[in-house]
Parts: sequence; structure tokens; C-alpha cells
Amino acid sequence: MNNAFFYRDQHFCAEQLTIAELAEQYGTPCYIYSRAMFTESYQAFANALGDYPGMICYAVKANSNIAVLNLLARLGAGFDIVSGGELQRVLTAGGDAARIVFSGVGKSADEMKMALEAGIFCFNVESEAELKLLNQVAGDMGRIAPVSLRVNPDVDAKTHPYISTGLKENKFGIAIDDAPRVYRAGAAMEHIQLQGVDCHIGSQLTEIEPFMDALERVLNLLEQLKQSGIQLQHIDMGGGLGVRYKDEQPIAPLQYISALKDRISKYGLELLLEPGRAISANAGILVTRVQYLKNNENKSFAIVDAAMNDLIRPTLYSAWQNIIPVKKAQGSKEDGVPASDIYDIVGPICETGDFLGTDRQMSLRQGELLAICSAGAYGFTMSSNYNSRNRCAEVMVDGDQSHLIRARETFEMQIAGEALLPADKDE
Ligand code: LLP
Repeated sequence: MNNAFFYRDQHFCAEQLTIAELAEQYGTPCYIYSRAMFTESYQAFANALGDYPGMICYAVKANSNIAVLNLLARLGAGFDIVSGGELQRVLTAGGDAARIVFSGVGKSADEMKMALEAGIFCFNVESEAELKLLNQVAGDMGRIAPVSLRVNPDVDAKTHPYISTGLKENKFGIAIDDAPRVYRAGAAMEHIQLQGVDCHIGSQLTEIEPFMDALERVLNLLEQLKQSGIQLQHIDMGGGLGVRYKDEQPIAPLQYISALKDRISKYGLELLLEPGRAISANAGILVTRVQYLKNNENKSFAIVDAAMNDLIRPTLYSAWQNIIPVKKAQGSKEDGVPASDIYDIVGPICETGDFLGTDRQMSLRQGELLAICSAGAYGFTMSSNYNSRNRCAEVMVDGDQSHLIRARETFEMQIAGEALLPADKDE
């Protein structure tokens, strides 16, 4: 894949525009996305699936801006949602309800109702209690709920413990050994239609083996179910395909999907996937400005205007994301280029954990712009108002055009919905 973020001479660009100009126009901190990158990375999945029956259901949680969802909907994507809010986003963005799968351990009755009304493709049910509630909600509405059970295959995804979900000690899914019993219970429920099986073993996986191990266990389960007269139509392998942040060598969608198709084609099953990160991570950057440089004893800090509330991955998962200058310094000390130093790139928030990168060898100047790379997934969607900071702007670049796809929050937007207490009687 050609990267749409690259240096032209010394200037870092998104497609045909320079980041410096975009930062001038939209201010910092600011997420900048590339339409071409989103398109290419989605199409890598869609093309790998080819005419094999199934769907690529983009995991909305990775980046849920409605412009992003609309772009993917236009490309024909399905969607993996985990809340009523994500359902509304997909529908607002023009996504097709019939191409939505609904994941998550804690769906409420209201969310089930919304999704049944919309006519989604399938509920990925994670417990017997949830199955019972869904049967009841669908019954009250006089509907039949299409269901896949999310099973926990108990495989080690070999990724960060916070984003590993397929081990039996995790809260996710139904233990695979218990799944036949829950399927039989579901088969006896009047308003449940069993359609598939799904699993999601973790995120940022760079090896294919854990996926293939999980698949074997799921296929085993399907054999057992068949013997009890339960025949399913689809298998959903979840998301989890990793991307390159530093020097990882992630599996390409084509290699992964070909391996899956080879293994399952003889079962006549449709194949669903729920990639999030692999579609969006490298389609976005976070642009920030260096406010101050400072030296404490043996440590140098660059204090920038983005913070952990804008991008929490570095501090939450010890995630490494590349941080690069928007204008490459050229020349020597004599030309005024500052000496290189080892910096922690930190934000203004009052927490030691407020960093975007540590120990980065860079030559930095106060006032210059930096780009935090691979920030298109789990960047803006995990942002917050911590320290009462307004959430930042999001911009989509398309060739030589740029579009503001989320305005920078204002203070008024930030406190909308809050209220003062009524006046005291003696006031
Ligand atoms: N399907 C299910 C059921 C999931 O739970 C997830 C992610 C996905 C699909 C998409 O996974 P992906 O293809 O993006 O790996 N915030 C963390 C990642 C959390 C992932 C949660 N579930 C991070 O920034 O690394």
C-alpha cells in the first residue's frame, strides 16, 4: 500500500496537502485522515474476500466519525457495532442495517429493540442471560432475532493483556465447551433464529496462528452442533488484524483471508470479519504543536498541545506510535537547527501518565508542529474532556481538498447538558 502520508521535500503531507497548511487552517491539536488510505485499506479486505459469500463489517469503535462511516458505507462495507449510539451513527451515515452485526457483552433491552427495529443482520450474543433477554424483547415485538453466539475459544492472542479477549479468564463470549448447551437452549427459543458463530480473540495480532487455532476450535464446535441437528450459515472471525506502528510485520488481509477461505470453503459457510484497526489506524495522524521545551535534571521534555485526553493509547497500553516533525529540520547548528536531544513528548494534563511518546531522539524547536502517526484507530474515539479540555477537530483530506468532519469542541459544547443547582432558599 502506498502511504498517503509522506514527506515532499521537507514537508510532511496528507495526499496533496501539506500538514503545515492544514494545521494553520484548522488549528491544533487536530486529527487528519486520508480518504485514499481508508479506501485502500477497506478494499484490501473486500478484494481478498472477493466473491466468496460474506461481509467485511468495519468495527465502528476504531473510528466512528460519520464521514468515515459514510465513506465505508459507500464502498459497500458492513459494520460491527457495540452500542445503540454506534447503531445510530451507522444509520445516520447511510449504512445498511442489513449489513450490521451487533457485538458486546452488555446490550440493554433498549439497544436490542433499536437494533430489531432497524433490521440488523445478526446479534453476536455473549451469554445465556443475554440470549434469554433477546428472546423476550423480540417476542414482545413479534419479531425473530437473528443470532450468532460469540464463543471464547481459549487461545492466547499473544498481544497486550488489555486487548486480549480470547482466553477463558476474559469476560468475553461463551466458553467453547459450554457453547453446545447454549446453542441447544437457543434452538428451543421461539424468537431466536440461530444463524452463526463468532469469536474475537484480541486486537493487534501480528501472527496468523492464534486465528487459525481459534478457527479449528470453532469448526470443531460446528461439527458437534451438526450432530445435534443445529446447522449454522456463517462464521464470524471478529477483528484483530494488527498494523505496523513501528517494526511489526502484520499479516496482510489477503494472506489471512485466503487462509480462512481455504479452510472453511468445504463447510459452505459465509465468512464475516470485523476489522477496525487494520482499516483505520494508518489512515490518520494527530497533529500537535510544541508549546515549550524544558529540562528537568537529566530529562528533556517537549510539552505539546495534545494530551492523553486526545490520544490515550500510549499511556493506557504502553503503545508506541511514531512521532515525527511536520517540517524536517535541515542543515546544521550553524543554520540554527537545534541540537538533537532525547525527549519525552508530553501533554499539558496534570498527570505523570500524560505522555504521547517517551525517549524520542529529536531535534525540536518551540512552536513547531509534530505528527503522531497511526492515530486513525482508537484515537479520537477514546478521547475525553479530562482537565476540561475541548475535544479536538477532525479533518478528512481527499486529494487536494480538505473537509472539516468534526468541528473543534467549544466550551459551550463541552458543558451542554450540565446544570447549576437551583438557588438556595435563603439566597
Ligand atoms: N470485534 C470485536 C468483537 C471487538 O471487540 C473488536 C475490538 C473488534 C472487532 C475490532 O478489533 P480490531 O480489528 O480493531 O483489532 N483500544 C484498543 C483496542 C481495543 C479493541 C477492542 N475490540 C487499542 O487502542 O489498542
